[in-house]
Amino acid sequence: MQISLFSVFLSAIGLTSALHNGLAATWNATNFQLECSPGGCAYRFNISAPPTDNAPGFDTFCEGLTPNATVCNDTTITASVSPLTNPLWNVKVQHEWHEEETDFDAEATYWQAGSTNVTDTNSTFLIKPNVFYGVA
Ligand SMILES: *[C@@H]1O[C@H](CO)[C@@H](O)[C@H](O)[C@H]1NC(C)=O
Ligand SMILES: *[C@@H]1O[C@H](CO)[C@@H](O)[C@H](O)[C@H]1NC(C)=O
Ligand SMILES: *[C@@H]1O[C@H](CO)[C@@H](O)[C@H](O)[C@H]1NC(C)=O
Ligand SMILES: *[C@@H]1O[C@H](CO)[C@@H](O)[C@H](O)[C@H]1NC(C)=O
Ligand SMILES: *[C@@H]1O[C@H](CO)[C@@H](O)[C@H](O)[C@H]1NC(C)=O
Ligand SMILES: *[C@@H]1O[C@H](CO)[C@@H](O)[C@H](O)[C@H]1NC(C)=O
Repeated sequence: MQISLFSVFLSAIGLTSALHNGLAATWNATNFQLECSPGGCAYRFNISAPPTDNAPGFDTFCEGLTPNATVCNDTTITASVSPLTNPLWNVKVQHEWHEEETDFDAEATYWQAGSTNVTDTNSTFLIKPNVFYGVA
């Protein structure tokens, strides 16, 4: 579904050469903290990425309760942290942004998403986005 939307979008507006799937920057998460109480687990971390040819950069702070997705301070970033087999947690991050495609008089929406598994001792880790798609 995601892939086919992306392909349709690419072929519809001929952007194939402007987008290089797989060349996304690696996202750098720092100061990851997880605090659990009987009511649930709260997480917070910073995450940043440099701008690349195919995605704007960001540098923001995310805070939420497991396992639901929460929008970070930079509202183009959404994060969720879900429990796996103890002591592992799955951290998912999505970046969504809009670009004017002036040649085509359309606004395109792009997403990149990635995830990794950490424990609460991993205060810094990297996420390599492995999903990249867009729709006009
Ligand atoms: C991630 O960010 C931290 C803090 O800014 C920095 O020390 C570290 O070198 C960065 N790692 C990568 C791979 O960019
Ligand atoms: C995120 O980065 C900001 C600015 O560098 C810093 O003030 C804040 O303490 C960091 N947040 C966490 C959870 O480390
Ligand atoms: C997570 O989302 C569900 C469904 O929206 C909601 O019922 C639940 O209270 C949320 N949990 C937390 C910890 O926010
Ligand atoms: C994130 O947003 C919250 C609420 O708007 C604010 O209190 C906090 O200082 C912001 N954190 C950072 C690191 O920008
Ligand atoms: C995280 O753990 C889950 C469940 O064990 C596994 O399916 C997934 O491949 C792992 N992801 C990564 C990035 O290692
Ligand atoms: C978390 O820390 C463990 C132990 O230091 C390390 O083996 C693992 O690669 C780290 N995970 C990530 C996602 O950086």
